[in-house]
Parts: sequence; structure tokens; C-alpha cells
Amino acid sequence: MSTAAPPDSPTLSHSDPLADLATAISERTATIAVVGLGYVGLPLALAVAQAGFDVIGIDAVPDKVAALRAGRSYISDLSDADLAPLSTGRFTTDPAAAGDADVVIIAVPTPLRDGAPDLSLVEQAGATIGRVLRRGALVILESTTYPGTTDELLVPLLERGGLRAARDFAVAFSPERVDPGSRHTLRATPKVVGGLTPSCTGLAAAFYATVVDEVVTTRGPREAEMAK
Ligand SMILES: NC(=O)c1ccc[n+]([C@@H]2O[C@H](COP(=O)([O-])OP(=O)(O)OC[C@H]3O[C@@H](n4cnc5c(N)ncnc54)[C@H](O)[C@@H]3O)[C@@H](O)[C@H]2O)c1
Repeated sequence: MSTAAPPDSPTLSHSDPLADLATAISERTATIAVVGLGYVGLPLALAVAQAGFDVIGIDAVPDKVAALRAGRSYISDLSDADLAPLSTGRFTTDPAAAGDADVVIIAVPTPLRDGAPDLSLVEQAGATIGRVLRRGALVILESTTYPGTTDELLVPLLERGGLRAARDFAVAFSPERVDPGSRHTLRATPKVVGGLTPSCTGLAAAFYATVVDEVVTTRGPREAEMAK
């Protein structure tokens, strides 16, 4: 009598990096990088720190990084005292620090030029992140843009480092819809999230559920881009 060898089960012998990220999000052990610490990025970084995550804040302006290291706010909606949860955050002008994060959120400016958003800073951020991105990470674009930006512009830049989107890392778009200065807080404003695949959407939705009360998912990034 012979005993059949157990079938190969590569999925069991190697852990799935995206499944590991889901665990790190639910256990708050994931490190979150926010690229662009302005009216959108700084309140988000604060909410993420309040939710219990380690935060890496990346901004191109050295004075802003110096202010945050000193616990000083430069945003009218936030006082210095409000920033207390960010006192353990790491702030830097070095975009390569995104390589130390499990979730990377891009919130750089996309100013309108001749009626269309100028995406050069998104391109710059995407190219740098692509060079340093970890396997198993999630990248979320929050900058305002037009439909197609996430899959046509951002994904190819992120893949330049050799990793494949939706297999090695997750990607999603989530528009910022908070009106700064209004009474509608980040937590109370439903967050629209559309990932490249259902698994990307699920990871991004799980992440935002740690900072907002309601997450609304869309079929993909284009629908989320159109929601803005
Ligand atoms: N502020 C709003 O009311 C609002 C609302 C919805 C959507 N948005 C969108 O969110 C995005 C960000 O807007 P914002 O209001 O936070 O802009 P902002 O100018 O207040 O902040 C952007 C930050 O990004 C930094 N930055 C610029 N280039 C960078 C780079 N290459 N790497 C790292 N940091 C960089 C800037 O120094 C600045 O601190 C834009 O696409 C905007 O259209 C803004």
C-alpha cells in the first residue's frame, strides 16, 4: 500500500503579502505614510495616528517638516495641541521614506491649469514610490484628478520598481471630500473607495474604516474618480 504525497500547496507555504496587510491594518501594526501634508494630508495623518497607527509624514517643503517635528501646526483648522497624537510621527522631506510604509497615501496638489488638473506632482510622487515600494503594500491616491488617472498613470509608475499591481501590492483611489473649515469632519464624511481589484478595494475600505464612520465602495478606481 502506498501513501499519496500531499498535494503541493504553494499558497500555504508562502504567506500572501496582501493578506498580511489586512491583518496589520486590523491589528494597527501597519505603518502609514502620507505624501503631501497640506489641508488634506495633515488631518488624515492625524486621524491615522489617533487610530493607533505609526505615521510617516512626507512633505516637499522643509519648513513644514520642521514645524511638524516641533509640534507646530501651519493649518488654520488644526491647533498645535490638536497635533499631539502626531508627536511620535516621523516627518521627512525624503520621499523614499514611503518604502518603510505598508500603506502609502498620496495627497499632493493637482492645481487646475486651463481647466484640467496638473498631475505632475502625482507623477513625481508615483515615480519615487514605485522605486521604493514594499511587496504587500497598499497605495491610495487622494489627490483630485480625472477618471483613468489611477490605472493609466499611477499604476505604471508604481510598477517601474518591478512589482506588479494587484499581485504584489494593492492600489486604490479615494477622493478627499471634506470641505476644510466646515463642520463636516473627516470621520463623519462617508469615504468613497475604489480599488484596482475587489481585493484592493477591500484592503483600502478596511484601512479607511479605521478613521471614518462610513466607507462606500465602488466597482473600481474610475467610478471613485468620477464620484469627485
Ligand atoms: N483642500 C481642499 O479643500 C481639498 C478638498 C478636496 C480635494 N483636495 C485635493 O487634495 C489634493 C491636496 O490638496 P491640499 O488642499 O491638501 O493641498 P495643499 O497645497 O494644502 O497641500 C499639499 C501639500 O503637498 C506638498 N507637496 C507638494 N509636492 C510634493 C511632493 N512632490 N512630495 C511631497 N509633498 C509635496 C506641499 O508642500 C503641501 O504641503 C489636491 O489634489 C486637491 O485638489 C483638496
